[in-house]
Amino acid sequence: MSKFSLKINGKLHHVEAESDTPLVWILRENLNLRGTKFGCGINECGACTVKMGDEAVRSCNITVANSVGEDITTVEGLHHEQKDHPLQIAWLENKVPQCGYCQPGMLMTADALLTRNPHPTEEEIVGEMSDVLCRCGTYPRVRNALLQVVKNGGGK
Ligand code: FES
Ligand code: FES
Repeated sequence: MSKFSLKINGKLHHVEAESDTPLVWILRENLNLRGTKFGCGINECGACTVKMGDEAVRSCNITVANSVGEDITTVEGLHHEQKDHPLQIAWLENKVPQCGYCQPGMLMTADALLTRNPHPTEEEIVGEMSDVLCRCGTYPRVRNALLQVVKNGGGK
């Protein structure tokens, strides 16, 4: 076991873990940030997506050791970034979630997209969001919600 300091949602957290522990388990088990979901564990589904800097990163596919020094945002951090975050408002207004399991990954993928590009085209939105697996087929509502955010001025 080694000690690691991770910056998550604007705060420094200190954890003890094996260096190869995937970040998703540090978030969920050590820090009780259970918004981030575990799906496939093999970098395919996107349920575990968090934001690292401006990028959407799959937390099952990055170790705690490799997360040190990064600015990590989980779905719980959206609210801290901005009260009534535009994505949360649009997700509610468009009734996006069905079972909800993929939605933290969807939201963090959307947040990273808007951070990099506040005014993506519909094509860019569809392309980016199709990387996250939604077995309930919420893609049309995800697209509509993101188009609404873009129309209202982007994510920030
Ligand atoms: S659990 Fe990480 S991509 Fe599926
Ligand atoms: S809302 Fe059920 S998997 Fe996406």
